[in-house]
Amino acid sequence: MITTPGPRPGARPRVGYLVHSAAPSGAELALLRAARLWADQMDLTLIFGSAGLMPARFSDAGIQTLVEPMPGSASATRRQSGVLATVTGVASLLRYALQLRRVLKQGKFDLVVAGSLKSVVYGRLATVGLGCRFVWSCHDRISSEYLGPIAHLYSRFLPRVIDGVVANSRSTLETIRIGSLPALVCPPGVDVGNGAAARSVETSVRNVGILGRLSPWKGQAEGIRAFALAGQPDLRLHVVGGALFGETDYAASLQDLAEELAISDCVTFYGHVDRPAELLDSIDLLLHTSVMPEPFGSVVVEGMNHGCVVVATSPGGPAEIIDDGQNGYLVPAGDVRAMADAIRRVASLTAAERAAVVAAGRTTAKRFDNVLVGRSRGRWLAAMARGVAPDGVVGWAELSGQETEK
Ligand code: GLC
Repeated sequence: MITTPGPRPGARPRVGYLVHSAAPSGAELALLRAARLWADQMDLTLIFGSAGLMPARFSDAGIQTLVEPMPGSASATRRQSGVLATVTGVASLLRYALQLRRVLKQGKFDLVVAGSLKSVVYGRLATVGLGCRFVWSCHDRISSEYLGPIAHLYSRFLPRVIDGVVANSRSTLETIRIGSLPALVCPPGVDVGNGAAARSVETSVRNVGILGRLSPWKGQAEGIRAFALAGQPDLRLHVVGGALFGETDYAASLQDLAEELAISDCVTFYGHVDRPAELLDSIDLLLHTSVMPEPFGSVVVEGMNHGCVVVATSPGGPAEIIDDGQNGYLVPAGDVRAMADAIRRVASLTAAERAAVVAAGRTTAKRFDNVLVGRSRGRWLAAMARGVAPDGVVGWAELSGQETEK
């Protein structure tokens, strides 16, 4: 796979980063936070498959950004589309790979990184024979539950034709057969400064939140059911997030559900909120409700950083963040009753008990400080581009140690 000697010693490596969607989902938001820190580590170009909010935010942050538009059917291919749609989708992915190849050739990249399941396919095709290294930054757990039969291709075949993997958690990495490939476990970082404002935990729990894009596997419906079942008349539920990938029927069904459960007076739906920090500051209890194992769950760390008590579903990334009963609470994925119990439990904590969980959560959030995490990711990618990344798995903390010595 590795065919070039890499950049001249001393020169910043040239890195092209492929992002297929312009929507502000977790992986892209985390990439923006990290990429702002990479100017001295690499010469970075973001290559988006569609125009919109995220390309604009990257270029506003001073990061070189190109939009190479994907044809409609390539961008529309979804995880669970039918056979015909898949065939058409694959054909247009191939066409797009050819189109992209011209751009990548001009960019003379030492390394191309693909940040999504779709871009890793067209990106790999587009880079064949270009003499650059190719890395998959994986933000999804590769399971047949999540991806259907193509999970096998991603988990077993893809690692044979790429040069390295970045996974957002150990739980994600475990789903990929990496063999001896260089791999970095690197979670999304959080801007710890954002949540620094002290907040009072003297008053009782009032505001419960669910934050994230609306999708059936993210479990907002189960969260709403758990809230209703908890039967706490003083609580309000704030559902923040939009259907970023076309799941508008699901979004509408959530409002119907609240009505059916006779709690619509206590529930507010916000839709997508671009900068939810302020909202988080007023959330006392944050529910992270995914019914399938969450790959990482940035929202868990964001919530901790903003002083929320977090109740999240396990297994998956959140179980790598939360120590149950210490810095938050874990409940089994999809278990509405257990989540309702957890809501009642948090609502009945004394102010001192709640303050202790909040303080422990804030300490945890600091471990994910974007400056450490994001720089580690940049450092590893630059090493990949130079062909000097070690074989096997490296944790981000091992790389950030070098960083803090500066
Ligand atoms: C994806 C994952 C989420 C993770 C984020 C950043 O959105 O679903 O778990 O936090 O990427 O890595």
